[in-house]
Amino acid sequence: MTGIRFDSVSVAYDGTTVLDSLDLTVEPGEVVALLGPSGSGKTTALRAVAGFVRPFSGRVFIDGRDVTGLAPHRRGVGMVVQQYALFPHLRVDANVAFGLKARRTPRATVAERVAEALEMTGMSAYARRYPRELSGGQQQRVAIARALAIRPGVLLLDEPLSALDARLRSDMLAELARLHRELPSVSMLYVTHDQAEALTLADRIAVMDRARLRDCGTPRELYRSPRTEFTASFVGSANLLPVTVADGGGVSFEGTPLSVPGVPGVPGVPGVPGVPGVPGGLPGGAATLCVRPHMVGLGDGPNALRGTVSEVQWRGATHRVYAEVSGHRVCADVLELREPPAPGAPVTLHFAPEDAVLLPAGAGHA
Ligand SMILES: Nc1ncnc2c1ncn2[C@@H]1O[C@H](COP(=O)(O)OP(=O)(O)O)[C@@H](O)[C@H]1O
Ligand SMILES: [Mg+2]
Repeated sequence: MTGIRFDSVSVAYDGTTVLDSLDLTVEPGEVVALLGPSGSGKTTALRAVAGFVRPFSGRVFIDGRDVTGLAPHRRGVGMVVQQYALFPHLRVDANVAFGLKARRTPRATVAERVAEALEMTGMSAYARRYPRELSGGQQQRVAIARALAIRPGVLLLDEPLSALDARLRSDMLAELARLHRELPSVSMLYVTHDQAEALTLADRIAVMDRARLRDCGTPRELYRSPRTEFTASFVGSANLLPVTVADGGGVSFEGTPLSVPGVPGVPGVPGVPGVPGVPGGLPGGAATLCVRPHMVGLGDGPNALRGTVSEVQWRGATHRVYAEVSGHRVCADVLELREPPAPGAPVTLHFAPEDAVLLPAGAGHA
């Protein structure tokens, strides 16, 4: 069994810190997705585990062992990157054997491991082909086979599906989930900017933004109970309403009182630290209310908001209705409507108190 631990890892390029004091653990057999926008430091974090960059402070542990100063090939790490990076002049089997030969593995073992890795990725029939004779999806399978051939304790995947088209991407995602089930002791760190991939594959998601870890939790935790605006808008889509919290705890949106959790008067829901006016926070002030579009209904109900339809998008099974409410855009995802409202029509939206999450205003962008 193995695992990865970042202990306050910082990396800089040319004096600019691009990974700032990362603390993160990937348990043995766990899949953790590093999710964040381009340039947030995800690849750098992966390269620090692989040994291709050296942190200027902090330590990296694999299987409890400090590997910070260890050469890449001695870390027991398999890596798959977006661009496949196969050797064009080598056949598939030689590509897959590459890491084993570099580690001076006995010939018979090489053959056995290559066969095993090709089998696992469904590429046994293609062993004698050259990379140019394979499709993109097949090349990526070979790249995965190559990473698995050394029987790594840790598998690092850097946007492995982003060069594939949508259909193939979803097939490969299912393949990766299957591989994970077949290799239950391998820890995976999976870099992506695609929230759907992270939600589908990961046991936990680590949300990165501008060199820092902003949030970490199970997909469900981050989706249901985001703690920052950044997480709320990056993991799933979100209505983020600017609200005012009165000293007494009452929440209002542009003068309309709302009933939401985390506020005195709503039973059974604890306060939110750092949110003004909420127990544990500061008295009175601005906060943000997060409501997922599919939790917003059309028509009257609790927390009714009156506005005007600005746009309606048909998405097959659903309609997304955008409304202008007191100068703010609010959207609702509802099952396909027989008679969708027209832009300009008055509309009432509502949401249940328990489907709203009160967040510190502007947090995540601080
Ligand atoms: N070899 C490098 N030299 C200088 N700057 C780099 C290098 N690699 C990455 N960077 C910079 O570090 C930051 C983080 O990059 P990266 O970790 O690749 O982000 P991500 O994978 O999240 O897109 C970016 O601003 C990027 O431009
Ligand atoms: Mg990257």
